[in-house]
Amino acid sequence: MGSSPSSSSMQATLEARSPRLHLAGVGPSWFGGHQVATQISNAMHLLFPAGERFFVRSVLHYEDRLSPGLAAQVRAFCKQEGRHAQAHERFFENLRARGYDIDAILARYEHTAFAVVEKNLPPALRLSITVALEHFTAMFAADALSRGALDHAEQEMADLLAWHAVEELEHKAVAFDVLCEVAPSHALRIAGLLFASAGLLSFWLAASRALLAADGIGVFDAIRALRTSSTPPLTGPNALWGGLLEYLHPDFHPNDVDHSALIARTLADLRTREVIAAPGISGTSRRRTHRRSEAVAATTGAAEDA
Ligand SMILES: [Fe+2]
Ligand SMILES: [Fe+2]
Repeated sequence: MGSSPSSSSMQATLEARSPRLHLAGVGPSWFGGHQVATQISNAMHLLFPAGERFFVRSVLHYEDRLSPGLAAQVRAFCKQEGRHAQAHERFFENLRARGYDIDAILARYEHTAFAVVEKNLPPALRLSITVALEHFTAMFAADALSRGALDHAEQEMADLLAWHAVEELEHKAVAFDVLCEVAPSHALRIAGLLFASAGLLSFWLAASRALLAADGIGVFDAIRALRTSSTPPLTGPNALWGGLLEYLHPDFHPNDVDHSALIARTLADLRTREVIAAPGISGTSRRRTHRRSEAVAATTGAAEDA
């Protein structure tokens, strides 16, 4: 692989943020009022936490062999992924409260993907699969943020997904650079892409099908519903196809595409609306500050934008 392994280690330190989210009130058709598009998106939510913990295990396996700068990036990457997993698991409670047997879906997914497949793959291939899945998440993130797909989501879900998307773009090169340092093979990277594509597609379809079946919606009805003009913009096939073609090139590096403006714009919006804190302010400090300002507003009668 022809790219610089040091490129992610030269980035600013990644920040693991704690967004303020109230996911309990998210509605049953939070994505554009479209039941099928919402369930397909919910299915992706179900895959995130266990998938992200797999990413963490894959990169941490090599922590002792990394240059100091990249090892620091890996630890920050793991913190970001850990918080993403926790946030999506909080949304699981919403789905359980609506009566979906998501624990059965999760049990099948986690048994097949991790108890069986992960256990039987060598560490370098697990890392290569992680690198490919990180490329997928970066492609989804850039597409969702740049095409305004989240404008069709309820605000709390849009905030959750925008925060997750922006951190995916921030750390998009970390796992790739680990692979460059410990197992720099184009063939291995492409093998990881094949495993990742097959796994993501099959688990996403299975989870979507199970959630839609619980609503009494069959596969053909779902396809018909997705063809209507009321369907919110799901991730664009053209963007995905373009991203995959780039990934096949031997000299590909995630930082070939500069997402810094998209990252800055999204972070500014999240900060303006106090979903995330300004840099250097912890979530706890922000909550204290916010409670204090709420108390001031209550005593003065001033409006408080919560
Ligand atoms: Fe993530
Ligand atoms: Fe990630």
